[in-house]
Formats: sequence, C-alpha cells, structure tokens
Amino acid sequence: MLALSGEGNVVAANQYACDLTSVEDRRVVPFEVLFEKSEEMLSLVRRGLEGTYVVDAEIPFESADSGHLVVSTSALDLDGNSGLVVVLRDRSDLGRSEGDVYQVEKMNALGRLAATVAHEVRNPLGAVTIQLQLMAEDIEQLEPELRTSLQRRLSVANTEIKRLDGIVGNFLRFSRSPQLELAPLGLNDVVRRVFDLVAPEAREYGVRLKLELADELPLIEGDESQLGQALLNLTVNAFHAIEGGGTVRAATSFDRPSGMVRLALKDDGRGIDPVDLSRIFELYYTTKAEGTGLGLSIAQRVIYEHGGSIDVQSEPGVGSTFAISLPRSGGTSGDPGGVSE
Ligand SMILES: Nc1ncnc2c1ncn2[C@@H]1O[C@H](COP(=O)(O)OP(=O)(O)OP(=O)(O)O)[C@@H](O)[C@H]1O
Ligand SMILES: [Mg+2]
Repeated sequence: MLALSGEGNVVAANQYACDLTSVEDRRVVPFEVLFEKSEEMLSLVRRGLEGTYVVDAEIPFESADSGHLVVSTSALDLDGNSGLVVVLRDRSDLGRSEGDVYQVEKMNALGRLAATVAHEVRNPLGAVTIQLQLMAEDIEQLEPELRTSLQRRLSVANTEIKRLDGIVGNFLRFSRSPQLELAPLGLNDVVRRVFDLVAPEAREYGVRLKLELADELPLIEGDESQLGQALLNLTVNAFHAIEGGGTVRAATSFDRPSGMVRLALKDDGRGIDPVDLSRIFELYYTTKAEGTGLGLSIAQRVIYEHGGSIDVQSEPGVGSTFAISLPRSGGTSGDPGGVSE
C-alpha cells in the first residue's frame, strides 16, 4: 500500500510496496521516480491524482512475482488536503485461473441480479403501458386542441417506455446463459461462417478480411452458435477499432503438446490503452458512446464454458490480437484450410 500527497509524493508505504519498487527512501519520493519503469502505473497514478480511480486494474509490472500487479486507487484525506491511496497486489496472489474464475462468477452474479431487476421492472412497465393505452382511448373524447397536445405527450411516454423495455430485454438476454449444445466441430468452419456473415459490414468499414486456416485442424467439442457469437463479437470490435480501412486476419493452428486448437484474430486498428487492457473483459466496460460493454464478457464466458481460454495483446496505434485456445476433441476435421482472402 502507498499513500501519496496531492502533488504525487509518497508520504507512506508499507514493506511490500517498498519491495516492489527499487528506490530506498520512499518519503518525499515523487511517484514519477518510483514507477519510472512502468508506463501503466504512471498513467494509473496520474489519473488517480486527477480524481479518476480504478478498482482491480491489472497491469504488467516487472518486479512483481507474476509479472503483473492488480492495482486499485482511491481518494485519501490528508488533514484536509486530498491525496491518493494506491493498493498493489501481485496477480499471483489471486492465481491466474482463480482470478478468471472470480471474473466469471462475478459475471454470473451480476447476471442473476440483472435478471431479478429486469423482472421486477418489466411488470410495472406492462401495467403502465396498459394505463397509457386506456388513456389514449379516453383522450379521443376530448376537444381537438387538448386532444392533440395530450396525444403528443402520450407518444413521448410510450417511446420512453419502449426504450426502457429494450434495455431490460438486453439485460435478460445476457443473464440467461444458454446451455451449451456440444457437437464435434471444425473451428475453421466457424471462422469461415462468421467471416461470410460479416463480409458486407467489412466492406462498409473498408476492412479486408483474411483467412489463414490450418490444414487438418483437429475437431473441437463445441457449440457452433455460441462460438460463432463469441467470434462475431470479437470481429465487430475489430471493425470498430479500425478507422479508415485496415485488415482483420483470422489464423487457426494446432498446438500439439497442449492439445489446444488455437485461433488468433488480429486487427491493425487503433489498439488498446495499457490501462484499459486489464478491464476490457469486465462486464459493462466500454469506451464507446454507444457500447454496452457486453461483447467481450459474453465471448469470454462462452470460451471458458468450452474449457478454453482467451487472451489479448495490443499496442496502441498498431493493433490488437485476441487469442483463443480450445481443447481438441480427437480425430481430424479433414478440413483443409490453406490461405485465402
Ligand atoms: N479489437 C479491439 N481494438 C481496440 N479496442 C477494443 C477491441 N476490442 C475491444 N476493445 C475495447 O474493449 C471495450 C469492451 O469491448 P466489448 O465488446 O466488451 O464492449 P463494446 O464493444 O464497447 O460494447 P458492445 O457491448 O456493443 O460489444 C471496447 O469498448 C473497446 O474499448
Ligand atoms: Mg463489442
């Protein structure tokens, strides 16, 4: 744990924080010196000092055992002056897979909460809609001038109710995690199908789609529609990240030693800020004005439910690669891929 003054000087640090950083006397040390080797830490602290805090942001950090830190920041009152508390945890404390499980559990719990709220909101919404319909009928009896004005108000109310109902509907869809319907499946086929589906949209975005499919990829045990949805979410994100034309590349491969079938989806879009990188799989996390922040949460859940994993690498200004691994089911698909455009 570290406490910083409003100017960004370290005023207190516990042993673990001292061990993590190389500077000897932490008092009066500016955070720029303390974290000079970590762009991500500098950016988190800078944002914290400006009043934007993070919870459990995961960042690469060389001197941590796992090479990663989980960082939270919050406001600190120093005798009336504002400061910043920085809590650092080594990611190995959480354990990688435990962290992942935690994330999925959090998602499921939020999903259940969403379902309850959605349900409770929908019933009164239904009642309000019926009342509005009855009012619309009553209004017909009124003199024309008043009638027009009231009808306009009713129409606004109806539009807003439809909007609410839409939001609640989205909530419900997300919270109902459909059962996997597993069958032996060629990952190459799933990729091809999704790329066929998005081809018209790709043209609109000025995006070239490239397939680099491995020959004789082993089959996986998968739910075709859910895996397709996961891949679709990743592909659409890639389109959104590409401004003024670019390429989205899907490459499949088989890693014999681990028995994992792999898919890398690579775009040359704007990339992801290191600070955002640890948060993009979080439920409702979005940087888009129109985004819901569900796309990656859903994709991650689908992949985990298949016993697989999903990781991301990204460099701002260069692009992002989402890498999916899924366990093979045995046998080969007899599905020669080759390289195509
Ligand atoms: N390929 C990518 N390149 C750059 N940023 C990305 C990419 N994929 C995801 N992101 C970032 O991750 C965030 C979360 O993505 P996610 O798909 O979960 O939600 P969203 O796209 O914002 O909303 P939606 O629910 O409509 O998918 C995005 O807002 C974006 O900032
Ligand atoms: Mg998305």
